[in-house]
Amino acid sequence: MIENNLQASVVENYQPPETDRIFQAVSFFAGCGGLDLGFTGDFISHGETYQKTPFNIIRAYDNDKKCVETYKLNVGDHIEQLDLATGDVSLMPGADILIGGFPCQAFSSCGPQEGLNSERGQLYRAFIRYMEEHRPKVVVAENVPHLKYMQEGKVIETIINDLEVVGPGYSFKVWDLKAVDYGVPQNRKRLFLIGVRRDLPGFPEPPSATHADKYRSIDWAIEDLEDVIDETVPNQSQYFRAKKAKKGNGQGDEVNVKGQPSYTIRANAKSRVQFHYSLPRRLTVRECARLQTFPDEFKFPHSATANVWQIGNAVPPVLAHHVAMAINDYCESLVDYSTHRPLTPINFNPPSTSFLSPSLTGTPC
Ligand SMILES: C[S@@+](CC[C@H](N)C(=O)[O-])C[C@H]1O[C@@H](n2cnc3c(N)ncnc32)[C@H](O)[C@@H]1O
Repeated sequence: MIENNLQASVVENYQPPETDRIFQAVSFFAGCGGLDLGFTGDFISHGETYQKTPFNIIRAYDNDKKCVETYKLNVGDHIEQLDLATGDVSLMPGADILIGGFPCQAFSSCGPQEGLNSERGQLYRAFIRYMEEHRPKVVVAENVPHLKYMQEGKVIETIINDLEVVGPGYSFKVWDLKAVDYGVPQNRKRLFLIGVRRDLPGFPEPPSATHADKYRSIDWAIEDLEDVIDETVPNQSQYFRAKKAKKGNGQGDEVNVKGQPSYTIRANAKSRVQFHYSLPRRLTVRECARLQTFPDEFKFPHSATANVWQIGNAVPPVLAHHVAMAINDYCESLVDYSTHRPLTPINFNPPSTSFLSPSLTGTPC
């Protein structure tokens, strides 16, 4: 009897070896790597440590040469420059999870309202092609909040319908997240389309807000940089000169307000980078990166125009980290640690030792 109880508690507290707690991920439209850094963790932002997650990004793709350079410099060599509109998904590795932010200009409230009919609007079909070929267990597709309102909601409905009927079928839910709720010192909203393969049990819960009503301000994030005008902090000497802010109209060029989160850091650089709250200049590239929660060690090696574009396009790593931890909780729920095996989903032959992607283990989905 005592022995049995002992056994039960050993199983309950069982922690698998670190190497087995790895979920493989592939990243599409990886940009400079904001989403990917948050997903893998193991970074420090403004003195706070974001732990290493069990996600291992085995391959990332973007068609922009400069993004690929920044990613390689800061995140890893596993990125490939590739046009995902035409790239052959059968040559890509299978993975448990597909993550990415398909380009948002076609859907953005500030971009041309081309929507789904444009070539760029069709880029979400790269997700579909990958899902058809590799059937990842979970899909995380990030986009702008305006996607919800395009054509009275018809655009997002079409995208989700298209994603849900792929292969064995997927269920999708939309997480509408505010970065400030997670300690990001910036007003920035993002949609996350979260998909789970239909043969798997359960669904991830959205991450709980850690900073609701405790929003961080712009000065909390960048006050210590006020007297720094050189590269002792990387990219701090890089900014667009302008004597005075034009009247902000929600499209950039705003003067930030001390004591409040910053305006959204935008991707369309130059004349539209927001102004400092007290100094007579626009925000520097480093200040934009700080407000997006990139660590100071994360360097942007290009012109101010290219750097601001990459930073403004990124998911704040801290926000991405909270999403990743929520997805991780779900992935962990699929693994039965008492037998040290993944739960067996319907019509699915699991790999024998760990929760690895089918193609890596040679197991068909
Ligand atoms: C919104 S950004 C992604 C930012 C990224 N998720 C991050 O957090 O840093 C979209 C990315 O899609 C890339 N892109 C646009 N069209 C593409 C295509 N046809 N093939 C591959 N990448 C493309 C752009 O270069 C850009 O880096």
